[in-house]
Amino acid sequence: MRLNKYIAAAGICSRRKADELIAAGNVKLNGAVVRQMGIVVEDGDRVTVNGKLIEPAQSKVYVVLNKPLGYITTMEDDKGRATVAELVDDIPERLFPVGRLDYNTTGLLIMTNDGQLTYSLTHPKHEVWKTYVATVAGVLSDQKIAKLRKGVDIGGFVTSPARVKVIKQMPRHAVVEIQIHEGKNRQVRKMFSAVGNKVQTLERTAIGDVRLGRLMSGHYRKLTKEEIEYLKSL
Ligand code: URA
Repeated sequence: MRLNKYIAAAGICSRRKADELIAAGNVKLNGAVVRQMGIVVEDGDRVTVNGKLIEPAQSKVYVVLNKPLGYITTMEDDKGRATVAELVDDIPERLFPVGRLDYNTTGLLIMTNDGQLTYSLTHPKHEVWKTYVATVAGVLSDQKIAKLRKGVDIGGFVTSPARVKVIKQMPRHAVVEIQIHEGKNRQVRKMFSAVGNKVQTLERTAIGDVRLGRLMSGHYRKLTKEEIEYLKSL
């Protein structure tokens, strides 16, 4: 197996991150630093990352978590904030979040130790459609909806076409479903800001056809076999 894949398959990190670790000289194969991501690891080879020996691939675990407000999407936080890792800490395998949700965003977060799937789901070239439900301040006029659908400038980046549907318009706020297939930092919040409507609450309800459904806040469930196969096929 190629070195970058071997590291990702062992659940250490995504394949992209493995490439970075290799390029930075943090990876050794049988005691010698290697900088070729594609070098092949054979049975019995010893691979270390930052001096730590890697155990070859473990069994793959895939869960979907309903992330609550006020949790950060990392495995550790040096400022002592609550992390999504705490919500899956009864699972022995070390899981990583697939992409990120803001501290104040709730909803569907996939977590897995399958570095290959993480890599393919988050690669900018083939990002999948993600569905969010946002409550935004003010009135979302037809003109604004058209702008969001076409693409808006969120500061040096023009978003690609989005799917937008107003679920409910109230006098002072609107509930909107928005689907995007990009993953820029705080993208949905920035998109609504760009048309003058501040996001008040934001929840991710689906990634592709994998839905949050009735999963309670702070709880997780294992992905079904069908969902795993579907995500791998994307
Ligand atoms: N867009 C945002 O603005 N925040 C998220 O957490 C996800 C998408």
